[in-house]
Amino acid sequence: MLSVLRRSQLYVPGNNEKMIMKASSLDCDSVILDLEDAVPSAQKERARSLVRKMTSELDWGKKEVCVRTNSVATRWGKADLDQLRPVDRLDSLVIPKAEEDLTRVYKQTGKRLIPIIETAEGLEEIGTIVCSRGVDAVSFGAADFAFSVAGSVDSYLENPYVKTRIVVAARSVGIEPIDNVFFDLKDREGFRRQALHARALGFSGKQLIHPSQVSVANEVFSPKPSELRWARGVIKQYERAKGRAEGAFSLDGKLIDAVHYKIAKRLLKGSDRTSGNEHEGGR
Ligand code: COA
Ligand code: MG
Repeated sequence: MLSVLRRSQLYVPGNNEKMIMKASSLDCDSVILDLEDAVPSAQKERARSLVRKMTSELDWGKKEVCVRTNSVATRWGKADLDQLRPVDRLDSLVIPKAEEDLTRVYKQTGKRLIPIIETAEGLEEIGTIVCSRGVDAVSFGAADFAFSVAGSVDSYLENPYVKTRIVVAARSVGIEPIDNVFFDLKDREGFRRQALHARALGFSGKQLIHPSQVSVANEVFSPKPSELRWARGVIKQYERAKGRAEGAFSLDGKLIDAVHYKIAKRLLKGSDRTSGNEHEGGR
C-alpha cells in the first residue's frame, strides 16, 4: 500500500492563478486544485487549462498534487479526465459526488483516486466505491451531503454516524479516511476541535480551504509528544513483560496488553512518517 501523508489537503480554486502559486509554497501535505464547485460555469475551460499548466510548471516539492474534477457524469467531468490524464506531475484525482464503482476512471487515467462521499446514494454505495481499483483514500463533503438529505450543514459538519461509517469503510479495505472542510475561517478553536474529533474517530487528515488551517491540521494529525512518551514506555514494558511470560500488566494504574503494544507501535511509525514527510509517488 502507498504511504502518502494527507494530514492537510488544501483546496485551491482552479481559476485563481495567484492562490495556486501560493499553495505550491505552503506546508500542506496535499493540494487539491478545484475544477468543481469553486469554479463558475463560464470559467470551467479556462480553469482546466490553467490547472494543467500550473501543475506541470510549478515546483510542488514533496506535496501530493490532486485535482478535483467535475462530476464524472457531466460533460465537464469527462473532459477533465480526458485532458488531465497526460499530466505527469498530477498524482491523484479527487472525485466529487461519488456514487458508484470508479474502476473505469482509474483505467482511463491511471491516477490514484480520492472519492468524496457527499450524497445519500454515495453513502449507501460506499462499500463498492472504496473497493474500486485506484482508490486509496476517501473523504466526506458535509455541505453537499446535508443538501442531499435535506438536513443542515452545521449538523452534518459534525455528524458522528456518517463520519464513523466513512472511517469504517475506509479502514476495512486499508485506505485512508480524510475529514471534511471547515467553513468558518474565524473560528480557529472550532476548527481545532473538529480536527481533534476527526483524529479520535480514525481519520488521517482533513481537507482545508485556507492556509491558516494547514499548521493546525499538520499538528493535530501527527502524534503528540505525550503520546510518543506513552508509546515508548509501553513498548519497553511490554517487551520486558513478555520476557517474564506475561501478556498483561499495569502501567500508571492502567491495563496494558497486546492491543496497547500495537497502538504504541503504530504511533511510533506515524511519528517516523510525519517527521520525514515522505512522498512516494504514484502506484
Ligand atoms: N489556497 C491558496 N492561497 C489562499 C487560499 C487557498 N485556498 N485561501 C486564501 N489564500 C491566500 C490569499 O490569496 C491571500 O494571499 P496573500 O496574502 O498573498 O494576498 C492569503 O492567503 C490570505 O487570504 P485571505 O485574505 O484571508 O482570504 P481570501 O479572502 O483571499 O480568500 C476564500 C478566502 C475562502 C475565498 C479562499 O480561502 C478560498 O478560495 N478557499 C478555497 C475555496 C475552495 O477551493 N473551495 C472548494 C472546496 S470546499
Ligand atoms: Mg461538494
